[in-house]
Amino acid sequence: MFLNDNLKLFSGSSNVGLAMAVCKYLGLPPGGAKIERFADGEKLIRIEDDVRGRDCFVVQSTCKPVDEHLVELLIFLDCLRRASASRITAVIPYFGYARQDRKDEGRVPITAKLVANTITTAGADRVLAIDLHAAQVQGFFDIPVDHLCGELVLSRYFKDKKISNLTIVSPDVGNMKIASRYVERLGGELAIVHKKRLSGSEAIAQEIIGDVKGRNIVMCDDIIATAGTICSAAKLAKERGAEKIYIGATHGVFAGQALERLKEAPIDEIVVTDTIPLTPEAQKCGDIKVLTVSSMLGEAIKRIHRNESVSNLFIEH
Ligand code: R5P
Repeated sequence: MFLNDNLKLFSGSSNVGLAMAVCKYLGLPPGGAKIERFADGEKLIRIEDDVRGRDCFVVQSTCKPVDEHLVELLIFLDCLRRASASRITAVIPYFGYARQDRKDEGRVPITAKLVANTITTAGADRVLAIDLHAAQVQGFFDIPVDHLCGELVLSRYFKDKKISNLTIVSPDVGNMKIASRYVERLGGELAIVHKKRLSGSEAIAQEIIGDVKGRNIVMCDDIIATAGTICSAAKLAKERGAEKIYIGATHGVFAGQALERLKEAPIDEIVVTDTIPLTPEAQKCGDIKVLTVSSMLGEAIKRIHRNESVSNLFIEH
């Protein structure tokens, strides 16, 4: 494409497919690195390219196994720092631990802040992330963060489907802003679900504010973890007379009972992005469509490298 020897992009082991697709977008070979293990299980990473004075990017989603991928990212960052890279950007398509972002009861941690601190201490100069669960998590980093939204990719997909009688449904209050941006991009009406969370894996949709009767629905969320949130919201929407129900979520974690719940829910289509590779169980399920964020990430990396605006990426031309 355009790039010179000054930009290097490395891949951790969590999402090699996405990292390779980003390299392809940029017309770059992946940076050479060997990830090995000592007999006791500790990881050793060796960077095989000369990175002195280079602008380096490491792509690593801190998805399952979360702690292992996180530590691998930290080791990568340390490695690049000690090899004298001039600038290091941690590209974190999915940032695990983001949801513990406040003390909502006594004696619990704020892992989003803790993990942000460790990434900075390990050597990151910047972070490029997608849907950090809450935009304010950006403030947990004392380094610049470029925050991309999966909505850009997902809303284009739904726009191309030209869905009639459309209502965009936010499955909880936290997602309201994103849902209203979908309305700006796709048109249609807006509805919101009042959700009560019973535990980490149980959520109940209690009420829908807005009209869903006889309407086709796009329900958007940042993450499907146990799928309690969207399945409960989809059931309630169906009870209230919704026609087709489409789900668009950036991060397809699919943990716990997610796949069983999704099979039973009145959902016509589920679309996620490749910020996390689909688990083999989710792949077997066959009903989950995956869109790639590689061009969006690649374009953001190109712009960061060239010191150009990343915000402009979000303006539809
Ligand atoms: C909640 O604030 C998030 O936006 C998601 O709705 C939630 O984390 C999804 O989790 P689950 O799929 O386990 O209900």
